[in-house]
Amino acid sequence: MNLKKFLMASGLSMVLVLGACGGGEDEDEGTDEPATEEDSGASSGDVDAEGIAQSTCASCHGEDFSGAVGPALAGTSLSEDEFEETVRNGRGQMPAYSEDEINNEELSALYTFFSEQ
Ligand code: HEC
Repeated sequence: MNLKKFLMASGLSMVLVLGACGGGEDEDEGTDEPATEEDSGASSGDVDAEGIAQSTCASCHGEDFSGAVGPALAGTSLSEDEFEETVRNGRGQMPAYSEDEINNEELSALYTFFSEQ
């Protein structure tokens, strides 16, 4: 019983969080956000970091992320903070990516993906 309540409550808060991100309480279904890369069920671990990296970063950082126009990302020695700061703010020819393009969950999944290579 209690567990069920708990699960329902956490499910509800997730909906609220997602709703807050979208900024629209009125239309909470079928908003046409360009969420092409992933399912809407965004529980952590579901993010296709490799897919995002391939389609968004590989053109400059190399198909195997060992470096091209930009430096190698595979096995990066950056801290997660440095990594996220660079992606959010850009640097030199490195474009900045806003949360609309890469959300925080995806960004941290990308960091994990690169640092594990
Ligand atoms: C248009 C080309 C381009 C794209 C696309 C691009 N980058 Fe970069 N990136 C660069 C360049 C060039 C640098 C080097 C910037 C500098 O230091 O002047 C860089 C640097 C970085 C750095 C800092 C690396 C270090 O060791 O200091 C990170 C982290 C990074 N990019 C992540 C990403 C991620 C993640 C993506 C995909 C979401 C991405 N980049 C897409 C060009 C690109």
